[in-house]
Amino acid sequence: MRDAVVETIKWADLEPWQYRFAARNDYPAVIPFRGLMIYAPGGIYHPWPLSSSHFIADRLSGIRGRKVLDLGCGTGVLGLWLANREYGNCVTLTDIDPVAVATAECNALANERFARIAHADLFGAFDKGRMWDCVIFNAPLLCTAPAGAGHRMGTDPDGQATKRFLAELPSRLDRGGVGYLPWSRQVGADVPRLCQEHGLTAECVGRDWRESGLEVQLLEIRHG
Ligand SMILES: C[S@@+](CC[C@H](N)C(=O)[O-])C[C@H]1O[C@@H](n2cnc3c(N)ncnc32)[C@H](O)[C@@H]1O
Repeated sequence: MRDAVVETIKWADLEPWQYRFAARNDYPAVIPFRGLMIYAPGGIYHPWPLSSSHFIADRLSGIRGRKVLDLGCGTGVLGLWLANREYGNCVTLTDIDPVAVATAECNALANERFARIAHADLFGAFDKGRMWDCVIFNAPLLCTAPAGAGHRMGTDPDGQATKRFLAELPSRLDRGGVGYLPWSRQVGADVPRLCQEHGLTAECVGRDWRESGLEVQLLEIRHG
């Protein structure tokens, strides 16, 4: 059964936004990000000024002294930024893409940030019972990819990654913990309904049209 609010957008309908978005992530770049210099190889999501990485970071500046998990870390930009020693966070980063994991390791080294970085499908690298105060998943928001382009960082057919993330989040968030998940109605998952089903509450703490051409909301998710 499909979710009621799913409005699947076909790649072709989003031109020229999507091609511009894809092209900006095609080539290697070194991108300044809040005191870090982030290396982004071609094909890995780039933290450009209009990226969702900035959209999320703008709303996470108060995270201090927390156990933080940055799921789908890509270049590592969000987790490494929060791993600033002065912030007192204990940060773990994961990604399903081994190239992203290697990139995050390089960026940790180059920026002298210390964090645990693991290759994992969502929470798959962690024992049952392992929990965090803050879980961030800057999830892929597109349902389809342009023909021939290897943009694995941007696609999540039918919102499967988001759905699996929400199903496991309640057992991974400490009491009083908070999850951050960008969401667009076009991702193929009815996130507000899924949150209810999993005993979570979701509040929209940011809304924007980013360079991807999708209306993106940042949801702050807690135990209900
Ligand atoms: C939009 S990018 C965000 C990258 C980075 N967090 C940032 O803010 O710049 C989404 C990332 O999620 C990763 N990803 C997708 N599905 C995943 C899964 N099931 N488990 C872990 N990571 C996943 C992708 O490999 C990609 O690096």
